[in-house]
Amino acid sequence: MSDTVSFGFEEVAPDEKTRRVGGVFSNVASNYDVMNDAMSGGMHRLWKDRFVRLVKPREGEDILDMAGGTGDIAFRLQAKGANVTVADINPEMLEVGMQRAVKRGLDGLVWTEQNAETLTFPDRHFDAYTIAFGIRNVTDIPAALAEAHRTLRYGGRFFCLEFSTTLWPGFADVYDWYSMNLVPKLGKAIAKDEDSYRYLVESIRRFPGMAQFKGMIEDAGFVQAKAEPILGGLVAIHSGWKI
Ligand SMILES: C[S@@+](CC[C@H](N)C(=O)[O-])C[C@H]1O[C@@H](n2cnc3c(N)ncnc32)[C@H](O)[C@@H]1O
Repeated sequence: MSDTVSFGFEEVAPDEKTRRVGGVFSNVASNYDVMNDAMSGGMHRLWKDRFVRLVKPREGEDILDMAGGTGDIAFRLQAKGANVTVADINPEMLEVGMQRAVKRGLDGLVWTEQNAETLTFPDRHFDAYTIAFGIRNVTDIPAALAEAHRTLRYGGRFFCLEFSTTLWPGFADVYDWYSMNLVPKLGKAIAKDEDSYRYLVESIRRFPGMAQFKGMIEDAGFVQAKAEPILGGLVAIHSGWKI
């Protein structure tokens, strides 16, 4: 990894990025779900539904939902009968997730504090690995992809849902304006936190495009890597297989 990494539009030391990302999610945890609806007009729910349809969870298989936060993906995977482990570096996000599970009467999910770069699970432990809107916040992305590959069984599937770059020109301009101007204001109005939401939109700009990220997945050892754009690539689902 290089000496500095991006934290939004700033270049910072790797340790500082990890610490500041931790601060962002500790700050936003209690308003995270309401802000997701506000920022995306509820569309994040459709993207997550589509993501889980692609994962095709099977009854009884073991799935790691990495950077699982407040549980949106895990709840959907569990509803299809999978055994789901929700892992996240941030205890406040996990706490909100556990409370949501209790409110929904959901039992059987495993919640664990983990850094995606250094997982404590043994080799070949999971049938599928999912990460939604998490990877761009990870300091050392190649290390996290290597850990995904290590902890998957042979025949295991990797799926990543993340913001990317839309290739629809007019839409790209409108979205750029919306995200840079309105999202931080929404953060201020709803979550009383403009800076965290400024980081979240800036981090989208700094994340590699679809082709480059697909290459990173291949470099980690995955085969048949694919990138499936949503809304021209505003959001993308990347996937790959461990064989
Ligand atoms: C935008 S939230 C996504 C939460 C959830 N997956 C969803 O789609 O709603 C990003 C999550 O990534 C987590 N995260 C950031 N860096 C991480 C790391 N190195 N290891 C594990 N989780 C991390 C944050 O704590 C946060 O919960």
